[in-house]
Amino acid sequence: MRPYIVAIFNQKGGISKTTTSTNLAVCLAAFGKSVVVIDLDSQGDSTKSLGIDPKTKQGIYDLFTNGAAVEDVMVETMFDGVRVLPSTYSLAGIEIKLSEMQNSQRTLCNILSHTALDCDYVVIDCPPALGILPINALASAHAVIIPVTATPYANDGLLRTLPSIKYVQEGLNKNLLLQGVLFTINDKNKTTRKINELIRARLGGTVYRTEIPRDNTVIEAATSRLPVCAFAPKSPAAQAHLDFTEEFIGRHIAIAAKNNETVSPHSSRDEAIARLSRWQAVCAENTVPADDARMRQKTDQLDRMLYGDRTRMERWHLEVVHFFIGNRLVLAAFLVVVLLGGLALLGMGIEGARRLAGLLGFV
Ligand SMILES: Nc1ncnc2c1ncn2[C@@H]1O[C@H](COP(=O)(O)OP(=O)(O)OP(=O)(O)O)[C@@H](O)[C@H]1O
Ligand SMILES: [Mg+2]
Repeated sequence: MRPYIVAIFNQKGGISKTTTSTNLAVCLAAFGKSVVVIDLDSQGDSTKSLGIDPKTKQGIYDLFTNGAAVEDVMVETMFDGVRVLPSTYSLAGIEIKLSEMQNSQRTLCNILSHTALDCDYVVIDCPPALGILPINALASAHAVIIPVTATPYANDGLLRTLPSIKYVQEGLNKNLLLQGVLFTINDKNKTTRKINELIRARLGGTVYRTEIPRDNTVIEAATSRLPVCAFAPKSPAAQAHLDFTEEFIGRHIAIAAKNNETVSPHSSRDEAIARLSRWQAVCAENTVPADDARMRQKTDQLDRMLYGDRTRMERWHLEVVHFFIGNRLVLAAFLVVVLLGGLALLGMGIEGARRLAGLLGFV
């Protein structure tokens, strides 16, 4: 089976590339498809949102530079049909490593062409820049999707992204198709509508009908390290991601038909929703409530920041200091006692100290 490879790319940051990648993957699986997500971002956000810890396993870095085998790097997720080639934090250093290698723009392409991934779709989550990793993604993909959020700078992001895609189409990958532009984190106000209309007027049918609304459930889901479609399948954002996935599959079927290829049938929307609801129940059992998880994460981060690799004595010292910072009344009382003690010693000499000790009941 030759998978359809799609890169989710925009040079602009924070416009829902990762959210689109993970929800598209989970929704495709809900429609009965098998998917591999490739996380090319050293932030590891899509790895994390699919429930994988980016600290533990081998990842893309090992695949690209150490000759690790795809099957050793691949990780199963809790969503049947979704696997991940995860990012690890070491990925941040890959640009330098790849710049020393020949033909580094085609590294991923070579890996994918020599490996039978045995899936229907590959979804590549790109980092927010035009470095060697997004170039690798675009060089290996059949299609690219550009998520766009309607801010006054949305056009700038698009204007920088479209030429990059053209650059790859002219040199590295002549068959790369712009499958569509997707409006994400969409607000319901006049300015947003105007920006969206402007972009639709320029790009016409390239823009998907579906618009993903701004919905705080997406952020709650991300805090629990889950895609919103599995966290709350009935939420407005999840429903919109399902709509988008159907539109995406529809476009893929049309592209395949033009090339005299066929796409295997997918499950109905009802079946997809039933699968998402099952995953929601499993996730609810296996995940700690968002608030607990957030608090624990913050405490761990603080501990690491404060204590790092200090010795036991230094830790104890810091803990005392932090105890006093957190308990100002105790600190004030302690300082008063020290001050009185000091005064007594200085002002009255040994006799004074003895009297003070007597007063405090020590003698
Ligand atoms: N529909 C939505 N409604 C509300 N918040 C959203 C929505 N989609 C994404 N977000 C939030 O916006 C933030 C950015 O999303 P995301 O991480 O997917 O963007 P990104 O383009 O991958 O970012 P980066 O460029 O840093 O990789 C996240 O906090 C995410 O939870
Ligand atoms: Mg991202």
